Amino acid sequence: MEVVIMADSHGVDVVAASRVADIVATKDSPVLGVATGSSPQGLYRQLQGMVGAREIAFSDATAFALDEYVGLPESHPASYASVVAETVTQPLGFAAENVHVPLVRGDPPDKVAARYDTAIARAGGVDLQVLGIGANGHIGFNEPTSSLASRTRVKTLSAQTRHDNARFFASPEDVPTHCITQGLATILEARSIVLVASGAAKAAAVAAAVEGPLTAMVPASVLQTHPDATIIVDEQAASRLQLAEYYRYTYQHKHIVQ
Ligand code: GLP
Repeated sequence: MEVVIMADSHGVDVVAASRVADIVATKDSPVLGVATGSSPQGLYRQLQGMVGAREIAFSDATAFALDEYVGLPESHPASYASVVAETVTQPLGFAAENVHVPLVRGDPPDKVAARYDTAIARAGGVDLQVLGIGANGHIGFNEPTSSLASRTRVKTLSAQTRHDNARFFASPEDVPTHCITQGLATILEARSIVLVASGAAKAAAVAAAVEGPLTAMVPASVLQTHPDATIIVDEQAASRLQLAEYYRYTYQHKHIVQ
């Protein structure tokens, strides 16, 4: 894994956006995996600036959301369908029909989940997956003890995740109990992965994911097995990394050996 430590969250957004832009620029019809949550919002705003400056375009791009709540109307402002439409599809200029979210829409959730993996494969797979990380080490909604070989499926949300996400709802009881999430093996099939994290609340999860053992108790640790995963964090999120100096040194000297 490459670990990039920036002074603040703005630095994280800038480095992550340039990584996305590099990949988008090399593909005719890039396929992006998009996370919701607070972490990638600054990255999406950076990309919006680049679209406005005509440095990149997403008009021929496809996007797959990582996850969606089950039991929440699509039109609810906290549904990931709404969040992706507002923060990715519209501002970045994706064609709405090219943006996919695992929505139940009256179908059996298990079938929706299985079809989602098929749709990703039919699109040629994900070129670049953007990820955040939960305070408990989850990626997507793969909660601790998720199988490292999991595919897109229905999951029960942990108490911590429902608590963490209550800020998007009128009351904590309104947070759905279930979701559909890309599985860990699904996520690992992306050709490149960029995980962004800022703030002290993520420091323990980042350290466990990067430097801890590979374990289903920290689902993000599965990224250690990916050949092209970049973890971009601010100083606070990096504060519990034992090898922080090494990561800084490696990043500073990266271009010298290329
Ligand atoms: C959420 C999402 C994840 C997200 C994570 C962190 O529940 N399902 O995709 O990365 O938790 O969220 P945030 O970035 O808001 O801290």
